[in-house]
Amino acid sequence: MIQAICILGRQPALGLAELESLYGAEYVSLLSEHVAALDINPDDVNFNRLGGSTRLAHVIATVPNSLWKDTEKQLAKSLVEIAQTLPEGKLQLGISAYDIPVTPQKLTATGLTLKKIVRGKTGRSLRLSPNNELELNTAQVLHNHLTGPLGVEFLVCATADGKTIIAQTTDVQDIDSYTLRDRGRPRRDARVGMLPPKLAQIIVNLAVGATPPSANAVVLDPFCGTGVLLQEALLMGYGAYGSDIEPRMINYSQLNLDWLHDTLGLTHRPVRLEVQDATNFEAHDSVSIVACETYLGRPFTEQPNHEILEQTLSDVNNILKKFLRQMLTQLPVDTRLCLAVPAWQVQPNAFHHLPLLDSLEEIGYNRVSFEHVRDTDLLYYREDQIVARELLVLRRK
Ligand SMILES: C[S@@+](CC[C@H](N)C(=O)[O-])C[C@H]1O[C@@H](n2cnc3c(N)ncnc32)[C@H](O)[C@@H]1O
Repeated sequence: MIQAICILGRQPALGLAELESLYGAEYVSLLSEHVAALDINPDDVNFNRLGGSTRLAHVIATVPNSLWKDTEKQLAKSLVEIAQTLPEGKLQLGISAYDIPVTPQKLTATGLTLKKIVRGKTGRSLRLSPNNELELNTAQVLHNHLTGPLGVEFLVCATADGKTIIAQTTDVQDIDSYTLRDRGRPRRDARVGMLPPKLAQIIVNLAVGATPPSANAVVLDPFCGTGVLLQEALLMGYGAYGSDIEPRMINYSQLNLDWLHDTLGLTHRPVRLEVQDATNFEAHDSVSIVACETYLGRPFTEQPNHEILEQTLSDVNNILKKFLRQMLTQLPVDTRLCLAVPAWQVQPNAFHHLPLLDSLEEIGYNRVSFEHVRDTDLLYYREDQIVARELLVLRRK
């Protein structure tokens, strides 16, 4: 039974794989391109740790067909019921639709109809957030307080078998917090690249799988740079262990994690930071999980010639192969890893992959595959980006 839905972010495959990794394939399914269905009580979903979902909503009704007039009737009934439970004050209403053959104008008209019905049946007044698009954007939901005590946002989604699901938004991505965790950090470094906190969360979630957060579940990032991934692992409640070949980066990670502690009031969590070459890495603490954005090779702003690309590819491949071999003896069997490794976009949507992807088993790792997402879709990139990040989820054999 579908109890909750998540609206997936810009690259839906990453958000879907993240949900599958945390909750298991049998409890997650894809309703439509940007909507995932969860057979989980929404109270059991820790929305703040999800980097690949923009909204969480709990399902309140299912209309047995796709007729908008029936959906409108159900929306009115649900809104009247909800309005009677909310504290005094002016209500705020928004409606977003996914894969429903309706226009933004029609959604606004439905909102105005609901406003009249609620006024008539409960005496309560309501302010509507009108639709310029079928989906209200994250900023509209936040600024109109649609997840606040007087707010209601309905998400209306079509199912493959011709039904219509109505859900109420409970959580929306906290844009300000992401901006702070990205741009607010005292030390950033354009040269090592900027790992967006949302992508760092996805990498951690693909690595930890069902392992619950605890200070004893230590996430190792052996290419930690300025420490974004360690930051996100700590915020989720895991222990963190970072290393990098450059002493300056370890210093940056330390300053950034001190800042995190002071700014976000993170209570003391175990953090270990060391200067180490990942290809000779020696663990000085127990490691339960490995999650990292590895060395990505030199950055390219335009297409490199064949020779330069081959050289870069071979350099990165050698470092990562050595690193994986080095870790083998230090990780217990079944330890899970998620590595964001480079893939080069040589033509629009055509990628050059690292050769080591074909010898993972021989090195000592099995690739973890997902039921709802193909391995080849676990790529994070923007259209004009040459160096994409490919998310490799592995298990030590
Ligand atoms: C793409 S950056 C990672 C950035 C990081 N995610 C962050 O939050 O800033 C790769 C990092 O790998 C480090 N590095 C490169 N070669 C290394 C090696 N052999 N061993 C350990 N670290 C290495 C670089 O110094 C750099 O900080």
